[in-house]
Amino acid sequence: MQLLDGKKISEDIKNEIAAEVKKMKDNGEKVPHLAAVIVGNDGASLTYVGSKVKACERIGFESTLIKLPSTISETELLKKIEELNQDDNIDGFIVQLPLPEQIDDQKVLMAIDPSKDVDGFHPENFGKMALDMTTFIPATPFGILELLERYNVQTAGKHTVVIGRSHIVGRPMSILMGRKGFPGNSTVTLTHSHTKNISQITTQADIIITALGVPNYLKAEMVKDDAVIIDVGITRVPDETSERGYRITGDVDFANVSKKASYITPVPGGVGPMTIAMLLKNTLLAREQRAMRGQ
Ligand code: GUN
Repeated sequence: MQLLDGKKISEDIKNEIAAEVKKMKDNGEKVPHLAAVIVGNDGASLTYVGSKVKACERIGFESTLIKLPSTISETELLKKIEELNQDDNIDGFIVQLPLPEQIDDQKVLMAIDPSKDVDGFHPENFGKMALDMTTFIPATPFGILELLERYNVQTAGKHTVVIGRSHIVGRPMSILMGRKGFPGNSTVTLTHSHTKNISQITTQADIIITALGVPNYLKAEMVKDDAVIIDVGITRVPDETSERGYRITGDVDFANVSKKASYITPVPGGVGPMTIAMLLKNTLLAREQRAMRGQ
């Protein structure tokens, strides 16, 4: 069994980006500037966004964190997004999901200028991704592709089973694994809450990508020998022995599944850090594209 070490690979990627930023600085060019909007006080979301901003600082990006109250109206949030669209100092921005109930996610995602949509969630960018056009690929799927590529995990002709059809992970992942090229050229099955006999499907899988958010969901009996296991789950489970009062748990019963797997991502230290690294990569691309347009 080989661990797919997202912590290490994400450090490599961040070092590569930091070297690019240094070149930009040395040439007197603008450095990438990422803004992150967070609405409300959800602990996990605040932690994720905090990590994104901290990573920016570490590699030499500019960053702006915009904290808005959970009671904000949709109109006010849309106004803020328009300001960010118009702000020449911002190369890319994200609006952390989920959003409070009074706000329509779709309206918010549609309002983001596609050229600054470093999450790749705008329908224009999502459509381009599905059509193999150059665009921003959503950070978590992009991170998984990067892990597979850097460990040279073969995907062509393999049966990839994706568990969960979220717009952030499962849906784009299912499209990307079926695209031409490497990683890709997989035969993909997208499973979800209405899938029957899921074990029958997962035991046929060469590659399983699980993005459910149900701790220890994927058991050893659901996996064939030598499968590649990608665990996107990051659920906080109460744990009194931990200082924080919780521990982060993946969708995979790691202790048992890792005995059968050929490659497996740990949680934490697998997909999570890759998401941040690829968001930074998208922000670097956004800056480069803006520079080419003279912005
Ligand atoms: N919530 C969970 N993952 C993500 C992500 O990648 N981007 C945003 N904007 N919100 C998220």
